[in-house]
Amino acid sequence: MSVKNNQNFMERIISPSMLSADFGNLDRDTRMIDRSAAQWIHIDVMDGVFVPNISFGFPVMKPIRKASDKVLDVHLMIVDPEKYVARFAEAGADIVTFHYEATQTPREAIRLIRESGAKVGISIKPKTPVEVLHELLPEVDLVLVMSVEPGFGGQSFIEGSTDKVRELRKMIDEAGLNVTIEIDGGVSAANARELYEAGCDALVAGSAVFKAADPEAEILKILNA
Ligand code: DX5
Ligand code: ZN
Repeated sequence: MSVKNNQNFMERIISPSMLSADFGNLDRDTRMIDRSAAQWIHIDVMDGVFVPNISFGFPVMKPIRKASDKVLDVHLMIVDPEKYVARFAEAGADIVTFHYEATQTPREAIRLIRESGAKVGISIKPKTPVEVLHELLPEVDLVLVMSVEPGFGGQSFIEGSTDKVRELRKMIDEAGLNVTIEIDGGVSAANARELYEAGCDALVAGSAVFKAADPEAEILKILNA
């Protein structure tokens, strides 16, 4: 799959999470990420049902898409994702990631995302073991491992998450698949190196980037950790 580049050249990807951006200055913050070394832009959609928080939906996609040509990496924390995945792709999502725990019909969600032309991502919460993905791995482009309970930025990284990444990397490599591994929650320059080395291709970072005095420099610090 092509979210990641070829396997011999493991590019380190960073996907700053707009959840920590200043929504009064969304255009400014999106343009700042667009200028930066970040390759992706992470967009967290929450419905107040799958997670105990509500973030934003389609209208916010528009100004972000307008301000940047970078890969829009949309993380849906919503129940019944099947109902909405096509609309997120239409709104400009390049990757649409849904939660394994949010649907009874993951294959249908995968089919609908594929049909929309976006790359397919599937995410698991911290307590969901990677084994549940075994059968689905050949059908997806990306797995998003949550390293905090989804719902809020600024939480601490759950330590066991690095082992989940290693396990997942092994499963993917043993099956000879080309699936991108992304991790989300509590990521900073302090743990970035360990995460890339454990087998992550892409790191999501919200507060570490936006709360930094110099977010663009912080992005480079994480990429070069
Ligand atoms: C949490 C979101 C994350 C969040 C990460 O549910 O999925 O993307 O923005 O924030 P930090 O990097 O601050 O943990
Ligand atoms: Zn996220």
